Amino acid sequence: MPTLPNSCRVALITGASSGFGLLTTVTLARRGWHVLATMRDISRREKLEAAAQAAGVLDRIEFLALDVTKAEQIAELSASIAARPSRLDAVINNAGFAMAGLADDVSDAELRQQFETNFYGAAAVTRAFLPQLRRQGSGHVVFLSSISGRMGFPGVGSYSASKFALEGWAETLRFEMKPLGIQVVLVEPGAFETDIWTRNANISAGTLNPNSPNAARIAKWRVRMESTKPKANPQTVADGIAHILDNPRPKLRYVFGTDAKMGLLLRSLLPWSFLERFLIKASGISG
Ligand SMILES: NC(=O)c1ccc[n+]([C@@H]2O[C@H](COP(=O)([O-])OP(=O)(O)OC[C@H]3O[C@@H](n4cnc5c(N)ncnc54)[C@H](OP(=O)(O)O)[C@@H]3O)[C@@H](O)[C@H]2O)c1
Repeated sequence: MPTLPNSCRVALITGASSGFGLLTTVTLARRGWHVLATMRDISRREKLEAAAQAAGVLDRIEFLALDVTKAEQIAELSASIAARPSRLDAVINNAGFAMAGLADDVSDAELRQQFETNFYGAAAVTRAFLPQLRRQGSGHVVFLSSISGRMGFPGVGSYSASKFALEGWAETLRFEMKPLGIQVVLVEPGAFETDIWTRNANISAGTLNPNSPNAARIAKWRVRMESTKPKANPQTVADGIAHILDNPRPKLRYVFGTDAKMGLLLRSLLPWSFLERFLIKASGISG
């Protein structure tokens, strides 16, 4: 561990090997932060290492192993970070994935797996580092939620449920931690171009089964999904997180992406009957 000057802010981030996690790590390091970049498979550090090298900030990044579903690993890491003389200014719960599939094709095990990472993992990491933030009487806790944490979309019910759970937990945590000087923030992106749509795309086994009662609907749904691949630049979200961390009194929720902003606006303006007809048609699941 390098010796850090007292003025150096320290952030811990989960899922730093790709997507928002990787970009946020480099963005914060460029702004002078020391970043504890955690990832479940440390051998996947090359992409971040190369990006940090190119940005000239490799010396501000530590690569640490952390699978957010592994309680022992979380406990060991939080104990070792707490034993350091340096402070911890931010915990960014970014690790996550999306399980795709219509509700009756997703198994209990798959649904639990979705919650293990997106909800229980984020909650466990947060709880492990809260004692340190409480002792300091300061710090930001950021949760990567989603527009899917505010509204449901056909075909991603498991993902949406895990993000709704995260929203409820974080909203409550915000009330509880505010008097202690700890800022809790939800980041809600729309669709951005990261590995969540490609390498990490996770489709339930039941959905891939040609005998699924939904087979014909799923075939159309997949065509629609594949033809609407996101184009938005994920750097927008990384920059947004950096601004949130600079704000001593951030809001509870930050929405990123035109699609997410438009979705929430339409949801607030349109009658539900119209919105559901639109989403059923647009997703291709009308049968
Ligand atoms: N991109 C979007 O359109 C979008 C929209 C809304 C919200 N989000 C949210 O943004 C967050 C980051 O996703 P992303 O879009 O940047 O996708 P990504 O490129 O697939 O990154 C996800 C990261 O999470 C890591 N991860 C998955 N399971 C983990 C576990 N059990 N322990 C530790 N790390 C784990 C992955 O590690 P590996 O490299 O080992 O796979 C990867 O580094 C997620 O919470 C996601 O739900 C994304």
